[in-house]
Amino acid sequence: MGDSKTTVFGTRFGFYLVAIGSAFGLGNLWRFPYVAVENGGGAFVLLYLFLVFLIGMPLLIAELALGKISRNSLIPAVGKLLGERYQVRDIRERVSQPPAWLRLGLRHLGGFSMAITIIVLAYYAVISGWVLHFLMQLLVSAFDPERFRPDGALKVLLDNGWLQLLLTSVHLLTVGIIVAKDLEFGLEKWVGYCMPAFVLLVIGLAVKSLNLESAHEALRFLFYPDFSKLTLASAGQALGHVLFTLSVGFGSMVTFGSYLSEKAYLPMAGFRVSTLDSLISLWAGVMIFPLVVYGGQEFSGPQLLFQTVPHLVKQIPGGNWFGVGFFLCLYLASLGASIGLFETVVANWREARRMPRPKGAFLVAAVCFVLAVGPALSTSVLSNVRIGSYGLLGFFDAALINWCLPIAALLISQAVCWMLKQDLVRAEFVDPELPGSERLFKHWIFVLRYVVTPVVVLALVLQLIALF
Ligand code: PHE
Repeated sequence: MGDSKTTVFGTRFGFYLVAIGSAFGLGNLWRFPYVAVENGGGAFVLLYLFLVFLIGMPLLIAELALGKISRNSLIPAVGKLLGERYQVRDIRERVSQPPAWLRLGLRHLGGFSMAITIIVLAYYAVISGWVLHFLMQLLVSAFDPERFRPDGALKVLLDNGWLQLLLTSVHLLTVGIIVAKDLEFGLEKWVGYCMPAFVLLVIGLAVKSLNLESAHEALRFLFYPDFSKLTLASAGQALGHVLFTLSVGFGSMVTFGSYLSEKAYLPMAGFRVSTLDSLISLWAGVMIFPLVVYGGQEFSGPQLLFQTVPHLVKQIPGGNWFGVGFFLCLYLASLGASIGLFETVVANWREARRMPRPKGAFLVAAVCFVLAVGPALSTSVLSNVRIGSYGLLGFFDAALINWCLPIAALLISQAVCWMLKQDLVRAEFVDPELPGSERLFKHWIFVLRYVVTPVVVLALVLQLIALF
C-alpha cells in the first residue's frame, strides 16, 4: 500500500486475520479477568456479553462501514461528512442538518480519538513489557525449572520501574519499525496464524486449571450471575471494556475498513470478530479464575494475569515450556494489537496532514515513550502518586476506557447513522442473494439510532453518579 489508496486485503480471509489480530490482545487475557473480578464475576460477565452483541458489534460494523465507504481513516472521513474536505464521491446525507452540539463534537472527534489511541498505546506498551519480562524469565529457567519463582519474577518487575521503561521502549521500537517499514499487514497476518496455537495453549492451561480443587467455585463465580454484586459503575466498566476489546472508538476499525476490498460483507465480519473475541475472553476467565479463588484476596488488579498464570505453569510437569509458549503467544497478540493502534494514528496523520509514514511512526513512538514514563514507574518510584484508589497506570486505564472511549464511540455512531449517506450504507448490508439482509439493515440502523445512544448515555450517567 503506497500513498495512493488501494485496497490491501485481497482476500476475505486476509482481512479476518488482520481484524482479529487487532481485536485480540491484552484486553482478552490481561484486562478482562481483572475487571471481571473487580466487578464480582458472573453478573458482570453476563452484562459484558450482552453489551458485546447489543452495542459493540453494531458499532464495530458502523466503524468498518465509515472506513469502507469513505475510503479514509477517521479524521478525513469525518471531515468529508462535515463538508470540510474535497470529496471524490459524495458520501453525505443531505436530508438532516446535524445539530450544533454534534457538529462541535465531530469537529474534535478525530483529535480526541487519536489522543485516546496514543495514551492507550503508551500504557499498553508498559504491559507488553511485563509480558516480555515473563517470557524471558521462563525461557532462562526452562532448563532448570526449579529456579523460576513466580512471585519473585513479578516483584523484580514491580520494584524496578526503569526495567519496565526499558522493556517498554523495546516494545515501542519494535512496533515503530514494523509500521514505519509498512510491514504491519504481513505481520498481523502472522499473528492471525498464531492464533490457533494460542487458543490451544489457553484451552490446555484452562483444563489444568479446571483440575484444581477451587474450579467448581470458580466456575460458579464466572457463570452464576449474582446481580447484587453489580455497582452503579459496572455498566460503564462493562461497556468500556467491550469497546476496548473490540477495538471500537479508537478509529482503528475505520482505518481497517478503508483498506477493505469492495466485496467484503461487513455484518458477517462484525459478527465473527465479536464472537471469536468474546469466546477467547471467556476461556481466559476459565483459565484464571480457579487460581483467583485459590489465592483469595491477594490476586487482583492489573497484576492478576501475572500473579496467576506463572503459578499454574509451575504446577504442570514441564510447565515452563508451556509458560514460554503462552507468553510468546501473548506477546505476539499484544504486538498485533499495538500495531493496530499504532497504524491507526499513522494512517490518520498520513491522510489528514500528508505526513510521511516513517516520520509519523517515529513521532508516535516518541510521544508514547514520554507518556509511558508515568505508568512504567507507577509501581516503584511513583508508587505514592495515587488518584482516588488508583495508581497512575490504573487511573489512565480507567479514565480512558470507561469514560473517553464510550464518548468517542458515541460520536462515531452519530456520524454514521445520521450523516453518512444512507443509500451507501444500505448497499453494504443488502445483498440480493441473502434473504433477510434488508431486514438486517433496518434492525442495525434502528439499534444504532435508538438503542446505542441511550444505553451509552445511561452507562455514563450511572458512572457519574457512582463517582459522587
Ligand atoms: N482490542 C485490543 C485488545 O483487546 C486493543 C486494541 C484497541 C487494539 C484498538 C487495536 C486497536 O487488546
